[in-house]
Amino acid sequence: MNETLKTIMNRKSVRAYKEGPISKEQLEVIVKAGMAAPTAVDKRPWEFIIITDRVLLKKLADVLPYAKMAEKAGAAILVAGDLDRQHGGRDSVYWIMDCSAAIENILLAVESLGLGAVWTAIYPNQDRIEPVRQIIKMPSHIMPLALIPIGIPTGVEKPKDKWNPKQVHWNGW
Ligand SMILES: Cc1cc2nc3c(=O)[nH]c(=O)nc-3n(C[C@H](O)[C@H](O)[C@H](O)COP(=O)(O)O)c2cc1C
Repeated sequence: MNETLKTIMNRKSVRAYKEGPISKEQLEVIVKAGMAAPTAVDKRPWEFIIITDRVLLKKLADVLPYAKMAEKAGAAILVAGDLDRQHGGRDSVYWIMDCSAAIENILLAVESLGLGAVWTAIYPNQDRIEPVRQIIKMPSHIMPLALIPIGIPTGVEKPKDKWNPKQVHWNGW
């Protein structure tokens, strides 16, 4: 297997981290990988908020019920969409797909650097969107999709083998 396929197959959600910082260079290259993703009509409606401030990490962990690991993470990246900049305009849904592609690229970049991360959901839960908007001071046309805590993995988490030939259909259903 080549290195790219190994990274894809080894990616796993990492929710337990060792203490230690994630460098600015690492965070920049991770976000650069996010911005290499495809987007509908090449609109690139994404915004990436890099969070290294411990107070902010704690505040986000407090309002996101399934992102408690953010408190212990070295950093986190919040991926959000600009509803006005997406293909189809304000009421379209392309931003979700565009930002999701960026998130997967981010998770793969993290894995390739020997770090660990997990996609934690904000959108479409209204009770998570509003507190996150307030903490980050986001304007209303910016919709937070997910918070990705990143840290040094403890090694407890392992990739799952999800290959299921029954879910593969050749030349029709
Ligand atoms: C849309 C989406 C939302 C998710 N939300 C959360 C979350 O809020 N908290 C969490 O710990 N994991 C979350 N996950 C991670 C999934 O639980 C994880 O990807 C799944 O269990 C498969 O495990 P793996 O990533 O190790 O392959 C989310 C994943 C996706 C794609």
